[in-house]
Amino acid sequence: MKNKGSWELIQFSSKGDTRGELVAIESQKEIPFSIKRVYYLINTKKDVRRGFHAHKNLDQILIAISGSCKILVENHKKREEFFLNDCKVGLRITNLVWREMYDFTPDCALLVLASQHYDPDDYIRDYQKFAEMIAHDSK
Ligand code: TYD
Repeated sequence: MKNKGSWELIQFSSKGDTRGELVAIESQKEIPFSIKRVYYLINTKKDVRRGFHAHKNLDQILIAISGSCKILVENHKKREEFFLNDCKVGLRITNLVWREMYDFTPDCALLVLASQHYDPDDYIRDYQKFAEMIAHDSK
């Protein structure tokens, strides 16, 4: 996969008029892959931290459709924290990136667009194993 071990913010444009706003996102346009799966995290309890994994082969875009949350991402070079609170911004996370999600507001709906169907075998849930994989990868 191209851009592996990377992340980026993608700004979506909104079509606003006197009635309000509409944001449209399409595969291969605003989203740089074909969307095969959509899921969303809602009603996340206070002080819950989730994620704690990387993927072998998955491109995803996370959008806080309402409310806000924080996302920690880490690759072989750096760690970065994002505060998602704008439904017109998507955080793209490619494969081999460790991610953790936390500080969800009670009204947070975190929408995720994914490039592959759900596959439990695609998960790297052991941080030590992830660290070894990226160390090997960065050589
Ligand atoms: P889990 O992997 O624990 O979520 P996170 O990594 O964000 O903390 O997923 C919670 C449950 O949902 C688990 O039983 C697997 C299931 N699941 C699906 O069935 N399909 C999916 O696309 C995803 C992401 C999870």
